[in-house]
Amino acid sequence: MIFNWTILHKLNNIIIFVEMKERVLITGGSGLIGSKLTKKLLNSDFEVVHLTRAKNSKHDIKTYEWDWGKNYLDERCLENTKHIIHLAGAGIAEKPWTTRRKEIIVKSRVLTTRLLHKAIEENNHDITSFVTASGIGFYGAITNEIVHTENYPPYKDFIGNCCEQWERSADLFEKNAKVLKLRLGIVLDENEGALPKISSMIKKGLGSPIGRGNQYMPWVHVDDVVSVFFNAINQKIPAGTYNVVSSQHVNNKELTHAIAKALNKKIRLPNVPSFVLKFIYGELADILLEGVKVSNEKIMSAGFQFKYDNLEEALNEIYN
Ligand SMILES: NC(=O)c1ccc[n+]([C@@H]2O[C@H](COP(=O)([O-])OP(=O)(O)OC[C@H]3O[C@@H](n4cnc5c(N)ncnc54)[C@H](OP(=O)(O)O)[C@@H]3O)[C@@H](O)[C@H]2O)c1
Repeated sequence: MIFNWTILHKLNNIIIFVEMKERVLITGGSGLIGSKLTKKLLNSDFEVVHLTRAKNSKHDIKTYEWDWGKNYLDERCLENTKHIIHLAGAGIAEKPWTTRRKEIIVKSRVLTTRLLHKAIEENNHDITSFVTASGIGFYGAITNEIVHTENYPPYKDFIGNCCEQWERSADLFEKNAKVLKLRLGIVLDENEGALPKISSMIKKGLGSPIGRGNQYMPWVHVDDVVSVFFNAINQKIPAGTYNVVSSQHVNNKELTHAIAKALNKKIRLPNVPSFVLKFIYGELADILLEGVKVSNEKIMSAGFQFKYDNLEEALNEIYN
């Protein structure tokens, strides 16, 4: 349990203390990771508030609004906040990467971070930790056999550049708080994210690997992602940048077949040719058709243990 003991009242030399739960502010708390993390934190006696673009949250918790396009943030969200978890960002694989969409993808991550930092500085808010999501896209949309550690430089393509800017904006918090930057792999969840998109095709008998099928797809079970964020603010992981992926390197062909097996389905169709995806998605197809191996050694050395480190077990937990 996380409590701050705060003096409420001093009356006739009798001091009354009240229990104050530690407050965590989550941006993008309505999304896949944010929803599950919110539940975990509430169950562990933290207070959680969300910073959102929508007035009415689907969660039964306090929400505050912001709008990075208007440089607006409701600063009341920072009152008594001890930890900030930054998950907000326009969906990377949601829409084709037009010039405007690319701008939204980057600004919804970078300008939001700066907006938060400005509010913290201007109001002299005292926070303990700032934890931001980033992605393994940092290493670029390429395919090779190199196992990428956190020491690799960002790849010079749109997605690598986006992650680099996202992480640099988080560095602004280094003089205010403990900063963690978590480069997430593909988060596996039954109902949201990439997995239901792949599995719905397989369930209809239309699933198949894409492109050459040899692109690596670093993956992580959603429960492990939630645990990493939880441990990050619970002081169990030191400040720094961490890859958050399971140990098992699987490529697109292996992942597609593993999902089919977990669903008791067969893959009968040939691979979807790369040119079809490029025709449909344009540049966005790059992150579907390419992918590298990513190391999780650093976070494991920091003491984190993945509950799901084996793909078959992770998928069985999700589907059974
Ligand atoms: N899921 C994955 O496989 C994965 C992998 C690598 C990295 N990540 C990163 O981790 C973070 C959280 O992932 P997630 O899967 O939970 O994401 P998600 O389900 O897409 O949720 C992200 C949240 O960001 C907010 N948002 C969406 N568009 C926005 C915009 N244009 N401007 C500002 N805020 C916007 C939304 O919250 P409101 O509607 O409440 O504002 C949304 O619920 C994201 O930044 C994502 O890129 C995810």
